[in-house]
Amino acid sequence: KKPIVSIVGSINMDLTITTNKMPMQGETVLGNDFATYPGGKGANQAVAAARLGANVNMIGAVGSDSFGKTLLNYLETEGINIEGVHTATNKPTGIANIILSEDDNRIIVASGANKLVLPELVEKHVDLIKHSDVLLLQLEIPIETVMYTLKVASKYNVPIIVNPAPYQPLPDALFKATTYLTPNEIEAESIKNDLLFESIKEKLIVTTGDKGVQYFENGTKQFLPSYQVEVKDTTGAGDTFNGAFATKLGIGASITEAVQFANAAAALSVTKVGAQSGMPKKQEVEQFLKERSGTK
Ligand code: RIB
Ligand code: NA
Repeated sequence: KKPIVSIVGSINMDLTITTNKMPMQGETVLGNDFATYPGGKGANQAVAAARLGANVNMIGAVGSDSFGKTLLNYLETEGINIEGVHTATNKPTGIANIILSEDDNRIIVASGANKLVLPELVEKHVDLIKHSDVLLLQLEIPIETVMYTLKVASKYNVPIIVNPAPYQPLPDALFKATTYLTPNEIEAESIKNDLLFESIKEKLIVTTGDKGVQYFENGTKQFLPSYQVEVKDTTGAGDTFNGAFATKLGIGASITEAVQFANAAAALSVTKVGAQSGMPKKQEVEQFLKERSGTK
């Protein structure tokens, strides 16, 4: 049986420039190539989950412009259910300006239509959430929507994964309601300052880029190192991790199994430019896990 993963989140067009040199303040540099790639943390996680074998419902919003049309088509091509995606006439499709150099990436997002992912939109699609095996959220939509969606999912006992990115101070109720939180190292540091930290630390799955993943299983701290791969673009690696992790949890895998699978999927994703370009299919991850078993 295919797990059902519902995602309430952002959909962006990524406008990506590669450069040998990051511009300094007030400086203009000549870069290399420019290309557009489908992106947005919500959509990225949706595509990752779909490629890895989940039935995915996407709830979000795009503008009624050409980026919006392209992105909707793309999500459909990936087999994602887009009945929950609203097409706005009063806001443009969200975009991310991405500057990519050999060892750095810098992203600035103009949210546009993602700001219209409001509780009313989620309310219209409660049925999708209610029948899900897992719900996945990020923080590129209004926080009130995140909080509302948490309530809905809790009501129907749907496990909830919150990827707290981009990080912002979070209400305690969010920590309480989630099943798992998947911060990166920097986001985890911010969470550590929260008063609730001791009581929620076992919900944290902390991804630390090329180092590895820290998580808890049955109250014991675990660490899984990252795989060595040739890195082309780390944009969307965290999203691949989240989509993969949700898919595995959705079929009832143990947390260790889910983290292992997600770790491998994320490693494969960074080998191509573009957030979604390198996202692997299920068989590729299984093959990779076999090849790399015992080695890293
Ligand atoms: O996590 C990567 C994503 O963040 C990019 O695709 C970009 O759209 C931003 O939302
Ligand atoms: Na990539």
